[in-house]
Amino acid sequence: MLYHIIPLKIILLLNFSFKLSLPSHLKHCQELRSRGLNEHIEFYFVSCFYLIQIDHFGFLEDGTFKQRYLMADKHWKQPGGPVLFYTGNEGDITWFCNNTGFMWEIAEELGAMLVFAEHRYYGESLPFGPDSYRGSKHLNYLTSEQALADFAVLIQDLKSTLPGAQHSPVIAVGGSYGGMLSAWFRMKYPNIVVGALASSAPIWQFPGMVPCGDFYKIVTQDFARSGYNCDANIRKSWKAIENVSSTAAGLQWMTEEFSLCTPLKNKNDAFGFKNWLQETWVNLAMVDYPYEANFLQPLPRWPIQVVCKYLAFDSTVSDYQLLRGVSQAAKVYYNYTGSSSCLNTSQTATGSLGFLGWYYQACTEMVMPMCTDGVHDMFEPEEWNFQAFSDECNIIFGVRPRADWAGTVYGGKDITSHSNIIFSNGGLDPWSAGGVTYNITDSLVSIMIPDGAHHLDLRYSNDHDPPSVRAARALEVKYFREWIKQAKKSSTS
Ligand SMILES: *[C@@H]1O[C@H](CO)[C@@H](O)[C@H](O)[C@H]1NC(C)=O
Ligand SMILES: *[C@@H]1O[C@H](CO)[C@@H](O)[C@H](O)[C@H]1NC(C)=O
Ligand SMILES: *[C@@H]1O[C@H](CO)[C@@H](O)[C@H](O)[C@H]1NC(C)=O
Ligand SMILES: *[C@@H]1O[C@H](CO)[C@@H](O)[C@H](O)[C@H]1NC(C)=O
Ligand SMILES: *[C@@H]1O[C@H](CO)[C@@H](O)[C@H](O)[C@H]1NC(C)=O
Repeated sequence: MLYHIIPLKIILLLNFSFKLSLPSHLKHCQELRSRGLNEHIEFYFVSCFYLIQIDHFGFLEDGTFKQRYLMADKHWKQPGGPVLFYTGNEGDITWFCNNTGFMWEIAEELGAMLVFAEHRYYGESLPFGPDSYRGSKHLNYLTSEQALADFAVLIQDLKSTLPGAQHSPVIAVGGSYGGMLSAWFRMKYPNIVVGALASSAPIWQFPGMVPCGDFYKIVTQDFARSGYNCDANIRKSWKAIENVSSTAAGLQWMTEEFSLCTPLKNKNDAFGFKNWLQETWVNLAMVDYPYEANFLQPLPRWPIQVVCKYLAFDSTVSDYQLLRGVSQAAKVYYNYTGSSSCLNTSQTATGSLGFLGWYYQACTEMVMPMCTDGVHDMFEPEEWNFQAFSDECNIIFGVRPRADWAGTVYGGKDITSHSNIIFSNGGLDPWSAGGVTYNITDSLVSIMIPDGAHHLDLRYSNDHDPPSVRAARALEVKYFREWIKQAKKSSTS
């Protein structure tokens, strides 16, 4: 195993295109890029485009678009070596490629080729070019079913055109929404992938499947365990914001204390400010990694512990003192590198994720109920209100969500008839609330990583990794080997 030795950081970036004479099966690759990582692992891939149907499920719209995928075959053992296929999620695929060190670290021992496929409507895979987000007519083909069909068609094509790939077993890998896709990919296309690793994949965060409050409960637990009175003081801060923002002088004080780019002027602004803070705490819970990392944002090791140092007040603290602490805490997230000149409450840093596209998906198929009660969590009480959500979607996109569709099309909690899927979840990750956290059958396996945040197992190994994530990765590789062996057996019998 490689992953317990190497603290990996991209230290060298060679970002040049070089014109090799491309082998004929790569003729649809328009670019060839090389990236150096460090002395241990060479990190290079070709970046390709593939022409694919805009609509897989109807025959009227016969247009195609260019879908991007990245491919790394340095360690691939042909013929027949396995393919690890990343089912891209809501963002630029090179970002997921960068952040999925696990695949890069196991390629050699498995003799595997790596493919990272970009999800339609994100990054450079835009069905209607710059018009892709113009109105619901153009957005109509942004669904998880279309994305899975893209992946299936791409793999079929790679298998028939890449010499030596015809009998290669393919394993789907993904994290977060990409993990949901990898699980669903195995469910819907068992003819194409022999198994799937679905890391931090909340496939049950849909209406009626899990309690809507669990997500924020986990966020709260993360803060509660990370410092004295941390959750209690955040719970109290909402009222303190309300108190202080009730006067013009208070609003101005908050604007200065938080170094806001745009002054808070009224109650409405204060409301938006609270939402922004809430989102900040949620993001921190997702990326509470045991080492310094730059996933959504550059952050220190165990960032919530750092945040909580500023919130360790006794109950006698004044509103102003409390909010000063909250401001220092928020700046851990927004100003760790010391390079931010002001905090912008109309954006929460979320890396290269495609916010608008995901919002559209949430407004159509990916309806994920969330709620808070202020008692079991540290947030202001807010019920899940489907009607209000639906109305908001209708205003923004001119479409309404279908609350039950995801459960119908992907089986909800009734998935025992499927096989060869690993669901890994971090105990610190709020998304584990909607994840599969128990073993369903011998081949629908749940791996828990108690000290792990959002898909920690898919990241590069690190000296500070807790033993639970090392064990999880080892077990994942063990399952991969079994699936590959099964596939070889059935293809030769
Ligand atoms: C991927 O990593 C390289 C090297 O650090 C960086 O230059 C590039 O911007 C990253 N891509 C994305 C989308 O973050
Ligand atoms: C907010 O104002 C009320 C009324 O003055 C006060 O009782 C309370 O302690 C203040 N702060 C918080 C955090 O509730
Ligand atoms: C961010 O940190 C730098 C360095 O400490 C500081 O000069 C700057 O004012 C900070 N920015 C904000 C918005 O607080
Ligand atoms: C704040 O973020 C919004 C949304 O990204 C952007 O349009 C705006 O220009 C930003 N404001 C400042 C002052 O940076
Ligand atoms: C599921 O089964 C595997 C293999 O026996 C085991 O390692 C794992 O801990 C189990 N998962 C849970 C959540 O109990």
